Amino acid sequence: MMKVYLDNNATTAIDPRVAKMMLAQFLDGPTNASSQHAFGRRSRSHLDAAMEAIGSYLGTRLDEPSGARLIITSGGTESNYQALTGLSDQGLLVLSRIEHPSILATAGWLEQRGRSLRWLEVDQDGLIRMDQLEAMISAEGHDIALVSLMAANNETGVIQPMSQASEICRQAGIPLHVDATQTVGKLPLNLRDSGISAMTFTAHKFHGPAGVGGLWLAPQVKVEPVFHGGEQQLETRPGTEPVALVVAMAEALKLAVNEMAQSTRHCRMLRDRLENGLLERHPELIVQGKVHDRLPGTSSISFLKTDRQSMLMALDMAGIACSSGSACSSGSSPPSHVLTAMSRPETEIESTLRFGVSKFSTIEEINLAIDSISNAYNKLRKKTCVDN
Ligand SMILES: Cc1ncc(COP(=O)(O)O)c(C=O)c1O
Repeated sequence: MMKVYLDNNATTAIDPRVAKMMLAQFLDGPTNASSQHAFGRRSRSHLDAAMEAIGSYLGTRLDEPSGARLIITSGGTESNYQALTGLSDQGLLVLSRIEHPSILATAGWLEQRGRSLRWLEVDQDGLIRMDQLEAMISAEGHDIALVSLMAANNETGVIQPMSQASEICRQAGIPLHVDATQTVGKLPLNLRDSGISAMTFTAHKFHGPAGVGGLWLAPQVKVEPVFHGGEQQLETRPGTEPVALVVAMAEALKLAVNEMAQSTRHCRMLRDRLENGLLERHPELIVQGKVHDRLPGTSSISFLKTDRQSMLMALDMAGIACSSGSACSSGSSPPSHVLTAMSRPETEIESTLRFGVSKFSTIEEINLAIDSISNAYNKLRKKTCVDN
């Protein structure tokens, strides 16, 4: 049976060109970039070159004295944790209701320890309310220590108004952390002129390896370490740097940026084909967030009168991999906090699946997915109707 992977918001397949480069780096010898011998110096030069390359593909320089910095982390969760816990230690934290669980859980943990949180709502199509950010800053601006918002939502794909958020925060002199985990490598980015203070990203969302990511810091922005140890990364993230992973992340980002126009066209074409193919057969389906700009490959579809978990399992049996929300919560699959924040009706929240295509997805796969999804929907919808 042909297997079709449509869960690219959870993680992407590593690009074979990246895997090859990473293997070569792994086989290159011992790599501790802090060692003072020739092996160490060689690793350091590979690491520095990869970091510089990452900076340039993000539109920022990392070699200026007191300039922007890149902290290498284990991925989005760690970067988000360090941003929330380390960019400020008192004052209000402003977040949106649709942030990733790695932000929400960290904020909840901080709240238990006395930090106060303020929440931005979203409209019914999943766009964060910038009017509320403005109002909040007018009312409590002096007490706000940090605003943390996502650049695009991982469930609906809705692209959030980050330039507007950064302008509002810049005018008020409030730091803005952006969780750009779903947009780096997918949308153009020029960090130097972005006005944001810190940004999270992770390699496995753009066909790089899992287990490595970054927290970019604008010039003069200081962050506390999450843990303590050696002097690596100016003591803000101690531990031996994973040189091969960083080299692979640089390569993956290079490919993603250089091939962005082509990948965007391809993903949008396939995503639209999937949505239109399903809507032609089932006009009653609801595509969440469709009125807003969305990530080119993401589609969140409500299959009314079905249960998302049964649909997910039926599709898995048919060889189609998708998701019923954020991958981090797919085990227990509680109702989506994103759709809940969008005030979608229960029937939609209960029946929504997320599909994500990538540059490796093909028309044949999408055609097969349309048939399989449509069949599963027909069966499960009928069953629900009969049962009721
Ligand atoms: C928006 C967003 N933030 C953070 C993360 C966490 O990233 P990681 O899996 O690299 O820890 C994800 C992963 O799904 C995400 O989609």
